[in-house]
Amino acid sequence: MTFALSRTSGDPLQLTQEHELLVQPRRGGEVTWSLDGVTLTPAERTRGLDAWVGRATTEMHSLALFTQLASQIHLLGAPLDWSGAFARVIADEVRHTDLSLRMSALLGGPHTVTFDERTFHLPVGGSLRAHVRHTIIEAFCIGETLSGRMYRHALKAATVPVAKKAVTAILVDETFHAEFGWEVGALLMRPHEGFEAERGELARHLPGMFQSFARQSCVTRGPEWTAAQPMVESGENLGSLTDEGYAQCFYAGMEADVVPGLEAIGFPEARGAWQAFLAAHPG
Ligand SMILES: [Fe+2]
Ligand SMILES: [Fe+2]
Repeated sequence: MTFALSRTSGDPLQLTQEHELLVQPRRGGEVTWSLDGVTLTPAERTRGLDAWVGRATTEMHSLALFTQLASQIHLLGAPLDWSGAFARVIADEVRHTDLSLRMSALLGGPHTVTFDERTFHLPVGGSLRAHVRHTIIEAFCIGETLSGRMYRHALKAATVPVAKKAVTAILVDETFHAEFGWEVGALLMRPHEGFEAERGELARHLPGMFQSFARQSCVTRGPEWTAAQPMVESGENLGSLTDEGYAQCFYAGMEADVVPGLEAIGFPEARGAWQAFLAAHPG
C-alpha cells in the first residue's frame, strides 16, 4: 500500500485543504519549503535524504499503530480526555509523516511511503487491557521517549533552515507524546483482578524490547565506546545524526528516562533487564 503526499497543484479537494491545515506546525510558524541559499555536497544531501526517508516510514508506522490503539482504548471504556489526547497524537503523526515526505521530496527523494498493510495493526494476544498496556509501554514510554531525545539532538545538529523548522515541529509534538505515554502508562498500572499476571508477563518482555530499540537506534557497541564517537558529521546538516549519535541517544535516554520511569510506574524488573543489557554490551 502506498501513501503519497497530497497534490500541490490544481484545485485542491476539500479533504486536501483540511489535511493542509492539520499538518501546519503547532508552534514555530509555517515551514518555507526551500533550499535557497544552501549549498549541499552530495554526501550531505544523501545523509539528510536517508534520515528523512527513514522517518517517513517510522512516522507512518506510528500513525497506523496509534490509530489502532485509539479504537482499543474506547473498547476499554477509557475516559473522554484519553480520546482527546489520542486524537491529537494521531493528528501529530499525520503531520510528521507529511513533514518527512516533504523533506524527502525537497531533497529529490520519494513523495511516497510504501507500507506492508499486513504489518499495520498488531494482533491482540491475551486480554485487550494487557495488549493496550504493552503497546503503550513499548511505543510511548520507550519509543516516544527515545524519539524525543533523538529529535532534540537532531535540532541541535541541523544547520539548514528548512530542516530546523521541520525538526522543531516534530520535536514539539514528540515531547508531548512521551509525557502523555507516561501518564497513560501509569494509569494502566492500577491494580485489577489478574493484574499481577499481566504485569509479570509484560516485565518478561522488557529485555526483548530493550534489544529491539537498541537495534533501531544503531547500537553496535557498549556505552563508553559509543559516547566517544562523533554524534554529528561535519558540514551542512539536514537534521540527522551519525549512527553512533543515534546510539548515544539510546544509551542516554534509557539511563535518564526509560529505566527510572519504568521502575516508577511499577516495573522494578527494568533495572535488572537494563543491567543485563549493559553486561552484554561492555565498553
Ligand atoms: Fe511522530
Ligand atoms: Fe510520536
